[in-house]
Amino acid sequence: MIKLGISAFYHDSAACITNGNIVLAAAEEERFTGIKHDSSFPIKTIEWLLHSLVLKITDIDEVHWYENPETKDDRVKTIFNKRPIKTFFLRRRYNKDRKNNSPEALLQALGYTGKIVYHDHHYSHAAFSYFTSKYRNAAILTVDGVGEWETTTISLGNDKTIKKLISIDFPNSLGMLYSTITSYLGFKPNEGEYKVMGLAPYGDPEIYLQKLQKTLYHTTNKYFIDQKYFTWEYSDRVMLNKKLCQLLDLPPRLPEEPLTQDHKNLAAALQKLYEQEFLKLVKTAKNITGSENLCLGGGCAYNGVANSLAYKYFKSVHIPFAPSDAGSAIGACLDGHNVGISPYLGPYFMDHQVKRVLEDYKDRVWAFKLTEEKLIQKTAELLAAQNIVAWFQDRMEFGARALGNRSILASPMKAKMREKLNYVIKKREGFRPFAPSVILEDADKFFDINEPIPHMNQVVKAKVDFLPAATHIDGTCRVQTVTKSRNPKYYKLLEEVGRITKVPVLLNTSFNLKDETITLSPQQAIERYLSSDIDFLVINNFLIKKL
Ligand SMILES: [Fe+2]
Repeated sequence: MIKLGISAFYHDSAACITNGNIVLAAAEEERFTGIKHDSSFPIKTIEWLLHSLVLKITDIDEVHWYENPETKDDRVKTIFNKRPIKTFFLRRRYNKDRKNNSPEALLQALGYTGKIVYHDHHYSHAAFSYFTSKYRNAAILTVDGVGEWETTTISLGNDKTIKKLISIDFPNSLGMLYSTITSYLGFKPNEGEYKVMGLAPYGDPEIYLQKLQKTLYHTTNKYFIDQKYFTWEYSDRVMLNKKLCQLLDLPPRLPEEPLTQDHKNLAAALQKLYEQEFLKLVKTAKNITGSENLCLGGGCAYNGVANSLAYKYFKSVHIPFAPSDAGSAIGACLDGHNVGISPYLGPYFMDHQVKRVLEDYKDRVWAFKLTEEKLIQKTAELLAAQNIVAWFQDRMEFGARALGNRSILASPMKAKMREKLNYVIKKREGFRPFAPSVILEDADKFFDINEPIPHMNQVVKAKVDFLPAATHIDGTCRVQTVTKSRNPKYYKLLEEVGRITKVPVLLNTSFNLKDETITLSPQQAIERYLSSDIDFLVINNFLIKKL
């Protein structure tokens, strides 16, 4: 059965096409529109999916939608009815959006009149995580901002079934609490959370932790968030009120204001609070399922520091490559396991297509096509000699992380590389860390890992001190372990770097410049290469240098 999976209208819209439980292709809409975290109906992705798989919309047997619009409608209207006057304009805007965002109408406009299956938002998160894990029995914990009503669920995955055991509803949301403090610190919610995570190790959590804890209370197995500090029920622009400012006794930071030690302390307290609450949920998941295995899902599963703490209660932890709403497009389609699923599900470009693009830039770059062996050897030498290389190969990654197909690579062995990448190339805040990739076989020589981390979703301690450009201030790294079977070319490159330097580790950051989405096409790759201080560009087996 051919299914089209869709997630849309919150953030990170995405679509995929599956046949049985095999994902044939998938991508996020932002890659095609260039709008970061694009939440619109993923029309461009659907067009690409159909075109690349040589399908017509009438070939689709079923559409699987990642959430249930009726239940979401119930939540929104119930919340509005609590404050009819205060939410008057919000309700008007919502009604208009709801009309424009009807899945039936949008799909009908594409010529699709078949069956649409709606899944619960957190079921799609849980299904994506559990069905892409190697487990046949696992606890599944999903934590995000909000779905329909649910913000947190704990389920038991057993063979092909997922049984929900606990759910926590809006407005009690750890995801929204994290986003609120993110905006308090002057960063954009749903985007700036990574910055807060990066900032946290620079602060002392104790100063604001007790204050932040006042916003939460608990009953057995559940947390609640005191709404007197927040505006989540009646504003979609501001997430906090005066009472929160009084509680924290710190004015909210404006985006361009300097970061003070107080801001760093607040970031540290938020991260600490999140870790404490996350661990309580993990413990509950263990107690009520008795499983040895844990699957994590929902946007909060991008919190790599918290994720690593789950080993306190579980032997094995699985975090899929796109635990946020994008991955739910795939989760909605799966009804059984796909253990070997790879994140490399996006567009790829053949050599003749690359050649054609290179022809247009022949006055600005030279390009040599090498054998794979020679290319790996040459690129490894360039990296070992402290050059920065943009690495564009095969199919684009699905999910927020570049995992070696649309990556900017560099040697992690000198601290100044981090500064060059942050300030000159990515033009981002200096406190943000970069992540290392390492071949799996050697990973535990350099990092304190519990098990393979293929998707860069766990933060672990570095065992060595000679990787300063990819190690955070607290001595931790968000590692990617690379295997020959999953990404043979990237693996060979790491191996060759190891042969030259004795350290098969590379700094791996996504191939994009400030505020851009991850690179999609060879043309975009060359444009970005030309407009930056990246030293070399590699597309397939073409080694490219500015003239
Ligand atoms: Fe979600």
